[in-house]
This record gives sequence, C-alpha cells and structure tokens, in this order.
Amino acid sequence: MKVFYQKSELNASKNKILAKSAGLVPTMGALHEGHIILVKRALEENELVLVSIFVNPTQFNDPDDLKNYPKTLKSDLQKLEKLEGNIWVYAPNASDLYLESITAKPFDFGALESTMEGANRKGHFEGVATIVQKLFEALEPTSAYFGEKDFQQLKIVSALVEKEKIPVKIIPCPIIRHSDGLAMSSRNRLLNPKHRAMAPLIYETLQKALALKEKHSPAQIESWIIDFFELHPEFELEYFTIADAESLQKTSVLNGTKNRAFIAVKLGNVRLIDNIKF
Ligand code: PAJ
Repeated sequence: MKVFYQKSELNASKNKILAKSAGLVPTMGALHEGHIILVKRALEENELVLVSIFVNPTQFNDPDDLKNYPKTLKSDLQKLEKLEGNIWVYAPNASDLYLESITAKPFDFGALESTMEGANRKGHFEGVATIVQKLFEALEPTSAYFGEKDFQQLKIVSALVEKEKIPVKIIPCPIIRHSDGLAMSSRNRLLNPKHRAMAPLIYETLQKALALKEKHSPAQIESWIIDFFELHPEFELEYFTIADAESLQKTSVLNGTKNRAFIAVKLGNVRLIDNIKF
C-alpha cells in the first residue's frame, strides 16, 4: 500500500505503472466494513485501487456536523494495510483539491436533488458533485464504487458523469449492515450507547413498512410510519418516502419492485439514513 497526500505525487507514480484498470473508492474516512467491502470489490475488478480519504467541507450544510465528523486517518490506514492488493490511498488537504477557494460549483440536477437528502440538506449534493468531479479529474479512475447506502448520492453521481461526459464506470454496491440490521455508517460511532441500542429500529421499521405493502397504499404506509415514530420520541423522523428507484420521485402507486423506501432520522444529534428495495 502507498499513501499520497498530493495528487501530483500520486499521478507521477501512476504514470509509471500504466495500470489498465484503476478503481476509485471515494470516502470521507472513519472506515468501517461497508467501506472495506467496496475496496475488496474494487481489488477483485482492477489492477490498481485508489481509496480517497477526505472529509469534504462543501457537502456539510451543518457546521457542527462537519466539526463532529470522525477523523481517524491512522486507524483507517491500518485497516487498509491489512488488505491484500495494490492499494493507493489519497489523503489530501483541502488545498490540494480546491486550490484557493473551498466552494461548491453550481450544478442543477433537477428533480433528482429536489427531494429527500437534497431537500433536507441544502447545497449537499452540489458539494458532493464538486468533490467527486475533482476526484475523477485528478485521479482518472476507469471505474468508481459507490454504496447504495447513499442511494440518492449514487444517482446524482451517475447523472454527473453523464452530464459532464466523464469517462468512468459507476459501480453500485449493496448496503452492508451490522448483525442487528443497522446500516453501517461512520456516524454510528457518534451514537451514545443508549441510542446505539435503539438504532436497529430504523431498519426494523423499514421491514415492517415492506410487510404492509401488499394491502396498503404508499400514503397509508407513510402515515403508519409517522404514527409509529410518534410513539418513539427519541427518534426525530425527518422523512420517510417511498419513491421510484430511478427518478426518486414519490410514488403513489406501487409498481412491482421498481420502488425504494428511504428514511432519515435523528437520534440525539446524530442523523442517520437508510433505504430498502420496496
Ligand atoms: P462516505 O460516507 O465515507 O462513504 C463512502 C462510500 O461508502 C459511499 O459510496 C457510501 O455509499 C459507501 N458506504 C457507506 N456506508 C456503507 C454501507 N453500510 N454499505 C455500503 N456502502 C456504504 O459518501 C461519502 O463518503 C461522500 O459523500 C463522498 C462520496 C466520499 C464524497 O465526499
């Protein structure tokens, strides 16, 4: 494994090895098994795997969230070191990617960004698209791996690549969960023990909603979810949405398996998201 802090150093080495396939796994660090599985998949499918670790300030709409976001570079590198294969880590400072001005580029993703995470975290996807484009341009991967945990992000990145004609293949990867069902997330480590013990209720609730699918409309299921979380006041429900898995627009009729159910809740100060096929 090699670690680079500057894109120029990384590219100087990369030009020497002429890898035919380079898979990028963009991350914000605080690596967990969900990230590691993305890296392992990229290792199976590429000669060289690039893992970026950068907590991107422009995608945080809440300054406290950015301040509290776990930063654990040393242990992240130890976790990656244990994997077999050709891994290059890129862990830059903001100035290596943003040069002088740490600002997001304006993008218009239309309806894709007007709902759920886009509606609740103003400017979030512009920040994501800005940094992902910068990473693609700096590192020129042939493919890039994104988790369905951030399903809307995955759709935004696919739209970005199409819009900007970036020659990279986007590979979607399934959600990895703890044995109690909680989707793995860097933010889980910010939960206090009481909230960590309650957090599996998020996935359980999604499963219960799925069980209602046969006999109930999306609107009825949504109001059931709202009532359910009223009974669990530790959880602040931000949204529960059943949407078309391609357009991400709210569905009023369930058509086969082309839908996904999305949820965002706050447990204390920690915001958690999850989604399932519906
Ligand atoms: P981060 O939250 O670190 O996630 C990095 C990648 O890991 C994303 O593609 C995310 O969807 C995936 N991932 C996280 N938890 C997962 C899980 N439980 N199962 C499967 N995949 C999971 O997403 C970001 O960083 C940033 O927005 C980034 C794309 C790096 C841009 O800054």
